[in-house]
Amino acid sequence: MGCHTLMGEGAYYAPELTKVVERRGEAFIKAMLKDPEKMFPGERKMQNYHFTDEQIADLYAFLQWIGKVDLNGFPPKPDLAQQSSAPAVGAPAVFTQMCTACHSLKGSGGNVGPALDGVGSRRTADFITAWLKDPAAVKADAKMAKMPLSESDISELTLFLVAQKN
Ligand code: HEC
Repeated sequence: MGCHTLMGEGAYYAPELTKVVERRGEAFIKAMLKDPEKMFPGERKMQNYHFTDEQIADLYAFLQWIGKVDLNGFPPKPDLAQQSSAPAVGAPAVFTQMCTACHSLKGSGGNVGPALDGVGSRRTADFITAWLKDPAAVKADAKMAKMPLSESDISELTLFLVAQKN
């Protein structure tokens, strides 16, 4: 509460969290709580609280519960960096929830990582698959953390990204 807000109560320093489950999904939220620095190397100012897996599960359950309270449209969606709520056409849900926190596509999304427009023209399917499995295995000093993705997330994302041609 010293940084975030819930139902408008709190410090207005970090993003409003009432609807964060709808916005970001379980895998991203749990990874963020586990190690915020690793998710946003050198970028984010959220500290690592070294939560146990049980504390993370409890926090997630609480955020899930509060996200279901009917507030009649309040609070408005937070104005995150260059974030628009328009999902890219045909994007897998995991892309819209997780990847757009850092990457933009067609002008919508974050700017922590490079824009993914035309990524299918500069990268092969093999590169993208290997990158999503483990960025550090592709590039020793990779600034993207290994995301919590299943095999099927990775194949869906690869198909979607190779189709993004210039
Ligand atoms: C927390 C921030 C963050 C998230 C979330 C994130 N990325 Fe990244 N991504 C980056 C950064 C930073 C780079 C640049 C890494 C580097 O070059 O060292 C990158 C690089 C990439 C690249 C290489 C792009 C290129 O032009 O070479 C691809 C592809 C990619 N990310 C896909 C994804 C996908 C798909 C997701 C969702 C599952 C995702 N990223 C989630 C931060 C993120």
